[in-house]
Amino acid sequence: MKISRLKSGTALTVGAALMSVTVLAASASAEDMAIGPVVGPEINAAKAELGKRLFFDKRLSGDAAVSCSSCHQPDKAFTDGLALSKAYPGSKGFRNTPTLVNTTLAANWFHDGRIGTNLNDVTRESLTEDYSMNMDMRLMQERVKQDPVYVEMFKAAGYGEPSNGSIRKAIPEYLKTLISKGSPFDNGTMSDAATRGQALFEGKAGCIDCHSGPRFTDDQAHNMGVPENPEIWSDPMRHMTYAAFAQFMGVENFLNIRQDVGAQIIKNPADRSDVAKFNTPTLRELKYTAPYMHNGMFKSLSDIVAFYNTGGEDVPNLDPKVRPLGLTFLEQQDLVAFLEALSGDPLTGPEYVWEGEISTNYPAIENWRDVAN
Ligand code: HEC
Ligand code: HEC
Repeated sequence: MKISRLKSGTALTVGAALMSVTVLAASASAEDMAIGPVVGPEINAAKAELGKRLFFDKRLSGDAAVSCSSCHQPDKAFTDGLALSKAYPGSKGFRNTPTLVNTTLAANWFHDGRIGTNLNDVTRESLTEDYSMNMDMRLMQERVKQDPVYVEMFKAAGYGEPSNGSIRKAIPEYLKTLISKGSPFDNGTMSDAATRGQALFEGKAGCIDCHSGPRFTDDQAHNMGVPENPEIWSDPMRHMTYAAFAQFMGVENFLNIRQDVGAQIIKNPADRSDVAKFNTPTLRELKYTAPYMHNGMFKSLSDIVAFYNTGGEDVPNLDPKVRPLGLTFLEQQDLVAFLEALSGDPLTGPEYVWEGEISTNYPAIENWRDVAN
């Protein structure tokens, strides 16, 4: 584990994360939190095209065998269908892979919300973490520079020579293109059941208290009493990966705990009131993103609605909004129909997916040892 080398940089990111979360939370107006279609940002086409190739390129990982798209797969709304993600050889993931659709509009990232600055930082983390792609940024830059296709694409994108800084800008530019479209909710083509479900969502069931705005999230962390995934603690490799992460994040007693502490790592309050708080996820594209929750513990939307309906588990710091909802079986089905109506067209066309072969069959740069960086 490259803990000492990364420690200072990540501590800074966490500090900056807190600041930006506070600012964004204070500035979100009632209008921003109204539900409706997702409006994406302006896109620089040449930069996004470059970012797309990088996103699908396995050479961006240490062993040249893992790309961002290995875990964030387009046909699953950029998730992987697993409860807990895979990871770089020698480790195993301890969280569920989240969708990247609309992620460009989020206020903070990862299930614990530990990065609140920007997607450039999230991209850096995804590339360099040893359980993710385990890439050394200097090696990455050299690899990319060797590929004449990249040399041209970086030029066309206005970045000049390939550099690790521009790689971390181009990937977020591509992520800006992943915006929901065409859901029955947005198109006004919801079934009667889904329409009744929407009324429950905004009324009796109180879901909108946290799942608000066009992405259906308040970008805040809450403790919903989701059960632990026992596999994190019974599979030695997963446990080791979590323990190393927890040690790195300054979690006390990291070898003995059998709980994912969630957002506690950010401010580490002495009363442990942030333990087991996780970010409210988007409810868009759920049709493609099972299993659900930060640890993949729920297989279906009806399981989740049934869980909420009971009022959850009696755990410390359970969010006070988790309470028995008194929904009938039919009401629960209507709520599920509404959730399903928030999924749109799959983003699997060539505008989202790099379909060409990424060839490594090019001549080595002559005298490369002498070429200045
Ligand atoms: C080995 C699987 C894997 C790979 C490879 C991977 N990711 Fe992820 N990604 C995850 C998991 C798991 C999480 C959630 C981690 C957490 O919450 O601690 C995540 C979270 C994210 C998030 C935050 C989403 C949110 O809603 O909070 C973004 C953005 C992201 N990844 C982008 C990328 C990019 C860009 C790459 C390539 C540079 C990449 N990922 C490579 C598994 C992966
Ligand atoms: C107090 C805030 C809050 C309320 C109220 C709330 N949720 Fe959630 N919801 C969350 C959080 C936080 C999570 C993630 C929990 C985790 O991963 O441990 C979540 C997760 C989910 C998920 C899983 C999504 C995914 O991609 O994993 C669904 C579906 C969901 N909620 C639907 C609902 C519905 C339906 C209601 C109303 C009955 C509701 N929620 C009420 C905060 C809330």
